Amino acid sequence: MSVAKKEVKRVTTHVLQAMKLNGEKISMLTAYDYSSARILDEAGIDVLLVGDSASNVMAGHETTLPITLDQMIYHASSVIRGIKRCLVVVDLPFGSYQGNSRKALASAIRIMKESGAHTVKMEGGSEIADSISRVLSAGIPVMGHLGLTPQSIYKFGTYTVRAKEKEEAEKLIKDAQLLEELGCYAIVLEKIPAKLAQKVAKKVRIPVIGIGAGPHVDGQVLVTHDLLGITKDFNPRFLRRYLDLFSEIKGAVEQYITDVKNVDFPNDQEQY
Ligand code: KIV
Repeated sequence: MSVAKKEVKRVTTHVLQAMKLNGEKISMLTAYDYSSARILDEAGIDVLLVGDSASNVMAGHETTLPITLDQMIYHASSVIRGIKRCLVVVDLPFGSYQGNSRKALASAIRIMKESGAHTVKMEGGSEIADSISRVLSAGIPVMGHLGLTPQSIYKFGTYTVRAKEKEEAEKLIKDAQLLEELGCYAIVLEKIPAKLAQKVAKKVRIPVIGIGAGPHVDGQVLVTHDLLGITKDFNPRFLRRYLDLFSEIKGAVEQYITDVKNVDFPNDQEQY
């Protein structure tokens, strides 16, 4: 008797939309490599973001600006090989879409073709509407990103909470509505007041996923290295650390070094 293979029900943009309608929260984390993607997908994460935060946590840069399209494609294709169920969204990196919609489309097509990812994410509102529209016109789903948009850090000057003032809050609401009208399937809101995020999540029909945007949105995203405590010096109020992996890994490696030095490793069973 043959055993039927259990079909995995994949997360799609339509599934996320249904989750918003049903009031089921969306879980999203970042991933940049095969092995982590495999663990996160098996754990049941809904969305994996191949974030340009790879520039910080994988490459050690101070900002997200230096990472290239080729590097994003490398990370994304590694993640895609590790997953079976979740939706994979990839950041278009700085310089690959702003101010040039044809370039935006070419960049998004490269990501989709060369990595096998499912969707892309772009930072900004009305300023990048042309680029978003052109990418969408090719049938590539786009996730928007408003509030603190790290690719604009030199315009903001600091990583502090955005849209605390009325004018910026009003523009953010208009931008969220514009992203919905253009056809984005979801929006990330980063580091804005919880009340404003709640207002946006109520005003738009597409899912709103928050990072530092309070609980009254349709889902949450964190950088996996922060949640696992691999990063050490980044401690914003919104971050909950679930592990202290930095110390755990360091302790294990210290033990390994001791065992090697004392010829405790390998032992009689650990050899041929
Ligand atoms: O690059 C990233 O990790 C992100 C998240 C912070 C949303 O854009």
